Amino acid sequence: MLNTSRNSKQAPLPRYDLIIALFSLVAIALVFFSPAYAQTASGPADAESLAEPVVPVVQINYTSSVVTSDETSRCLNCHASRQIKLVETWEKSTHARNGVGCYECHKANPADPAAKNGHFGFSVQLPVSPLTCAACHPAQYASFASSSHALAFETIKNQPLRTSSPALFESTCAVCHGNELQMKRGRPLNHTWPNHGIGRINTDGSRGNCAACHGHHDDSLERARSPETCARCHRGDTGPAYESWKASRHGTDWHLTAASTDFNRKQLIPVETPLKRPDCFVCHIAPAAANATATHNPGERLSWKLAAMHSAHTENWGDKRMLMQNSCRNCHAGTEIDMYYRRLDAAVLEFNRLASEAAILAGSDRKALDRIKGAAIKGRVGAAMLSPLHTREAIEKLESEKP
Ligand code: HEC
Ligand code: HEC
Ligand code: HEC
Ligand code: HEC
Ligand code: HEC
Ligand code: HEC
Ligand code: HEC
Ligand code: HEC
Repeated sequence: MLNTSRNSKQAPLPRYDLIIALFSLVAIALVFFSPAYAQTASGPADAESLAEPVVPVVQINYTSSVVTSDETSRCLNCHASRQIKLVETWEKSTHARNGVGCYECHKANPADPAAKNGHFGFSVQLPVSPLTCAACHPAQYASFASSSHALAFETIKNQPLRTSSPALFESTCAVCHGNELQMKRGRPLNHTWPNHGIGRINTDGSRGNCAACHGHHDDSLERARSPETCARCHRGDTGPAYESWKASRHGTDWHLTAASTDFNRKQLIPVETPLKRPDCFVCHIAPAAANATATHNPGERLSWKLAAMHSAHTENWGDKRMLMQNSCRNCHAGTEIDMYYRRLDAAVLEFNRLASEAAILAGSDRKALDRIKGAAIKGRVGAAMLSPLHTREAIEKLESEKP
């Protein structure tokens, strides 16, 4: 079927004939696949998927600047002239230099709903689930899978917006938190694609998406480590981690020493680089010392659950706090660190108190309760990230909820 479609497209056709050709193709394909389609046909979505091979296919003999598998070199013969910039990006990546190409990441299990079977002799998938990455990066996968990042869709799946206004849910919450990906024979259904949020539910049952922080084809560590990467999600009134860090002494002149730091080096700990002030990954992800390991679960170093109406300590919070403090020790003496945490603890409890007082007055007013929760989160994140500005704004908001 694929050959027919390619040949019919190679001869230049007048428009009218093209439409007829397209319709007859769909008809032929329908007959061809009728047993399979008869069971699952669900209208226009299927007609769309059948029309797909009609796109013009140009094959070239592409010579890559890197050594690839035979399968990947066949992908490149078609895709290098189609997605030119994508291929250029990939060719500069560490993956390309290590023989990890299109086929190695996009090959599919033919039984998976994400699989596009019969793709010029291959089974390929558009989405690349964390389980695909896990085949080569099992440690990072295990750590990520245990994080609240992987659960970010579970947090919002019962939000009324998801059923009342799916389009709005997809354009906002899902972009950061992820959505449940639905596919059939390699085609996304029900507007669940694009879907690059951090807690995406994949068709193989796994949770999460590595490409929420790592580029789709640019795998540079500099990109993953950039505060702008975290800032895509961690900003805004109800969780201003990025803005608070920026406003703190850690963030204001961070760029002065960052400019001379090689953020692509394999292991980055402050003592081994010119970096003098930390950004997000230094405290939350990177190893604190040469003999330590990085984590893909930023919750491992948190002693509080700040994003809540009333904050409580996390499980085994003392151990978690020590892991975070190892990072501070690269630059600070004990007194600064201990006193920081005493003040943070006191501030968190004060925000709990202010939120409780305001919540009692708000009674069952949902909107007021949401405002109060948002302000309490903002204040605690502001205090944790050392922004006097965000902490003050949150206090004012909470005070203003009192009549
Ligand atoms: C004979 C040409 C050809 C070969 C070989 C080929 N592809 Fe494709 N591929 C296409 C065309 C044409 C499309 C249609 C989508 C487009 O480019 O807009 C496509 C689509 C795809 C898509 C889906 C994109 C989307 O947005 O739905 C993926 C993923 C993909 N190819 C991966 C691969 C991989 C991996 C290989 C190698 C194992 C490969 N392809 C080999 C021509 C080819
Ligand atoms: C390290 C794994 C990896 C490699 C290697 C890789 N891809 Fe991808 N590709 C991804 C990820 C991740 C995405 C984003 C999909 C997602 O969110 O699951 C993606 C997305 C895509 C898309 C859809 C992009 C869009 O915006 O329309 C195409 C097409 C594609 N890849 C083709 C290729 C081709 C061609 C190659 C070889 C040059 C290649 N990929 C190599 C991981 C990879
Ligand atoms: C077929 C095996 C394979 C797959 C699949 C794979 N990788 Fe890799 N990855 C590698 C290899 C090999 C390296 C280079 C390791 C090294 O230099 O020590 C690497 C390196 C990396 C790096 C470090 C890059 C750098 O510049 O140092 C990141 C980040 C990464 N991979 C993320 C991913 C993500 C995310 C996925 C899934 C979308 C993925 N990988 C899929 C094999 C793979
Ligand atoms: C710009 C990215 C982004 C968007 C858009 C987004 N969120 Fe979030 N959300 C986050 C981040 C980041 C956190 C974690 C905040 C923290 O820990 O400081 C979070 C936390 C949450 C939490 C847990 C904390 C709490 O307030 O109870 C809920 C619930 C939530 N979001 C719901 C939603 C809903 C519903 C939407 C859509 C209306 C949405 N989010 C849109 C990034 C986003
Ligand atoms: C929250 C953002 C984020 C997500 C999501 C994420 N990574 Fe990473 N990743 C990073 C950062 C930041 C680094 C650099 C760590 C460091 O400095 O030591 C990194 C480093 C890596 C490396 C290089 C080796 C190492 O551990 O330092 C690999 C491989 C990798 N990630 C794979 C993955 C895989 C596989 C997934 C999905 C299961 C994933 N990452 C999800 C942010 C992320
Ligand atoms: C100096 C180290 C440091 C830097 C830099 C830093 N953080 Fe934090 N972050 C902390 C500490 C300490 C806490 C509170 C820890 C606790 O609960 O014990 C925290 C808390 C958080 C929380 C709240 C989690 C919750 O409980 O809901 C988020 C989200 C967060 N940081 C994200 C970021 C982002 C994004 C950046 C970069 C823009 C960043 N952090 C920069 C140290 C840092
Ligand atoms: C694509 C969006 C996205 C990106 C990018 C992202 N995060 Fe998150 N992050 C979230 C969401 C959503 C949550 C809340 C998850 C939940 O509780 O449901 C979260 C939670 C967290 C938490 C609280 C963890 C816990 O266990 O309570 C920390 C700390 C954090 N992120 C740090 C980071 C850092 C550092 C980066 C950059 C390296 C980053 N995040 C990148 C969306 C994102
Ligand atoms: C890479 C080095 C580095 C790391 C890691 C680091 N800091 Fe800092 N911190 C600094 C520098 C530099 C300053 C500003 C002092 C100056 O201007 O000379 C600072 C300032 C501070 C201040 C004073 C804030 C103010 O507004 O006066 C506190 C408190 C602080 N850091 C706590 C921490 C804690 C807690 C951690 C770990 C969670 C940490 N720092 C991690 C380098 C670091």
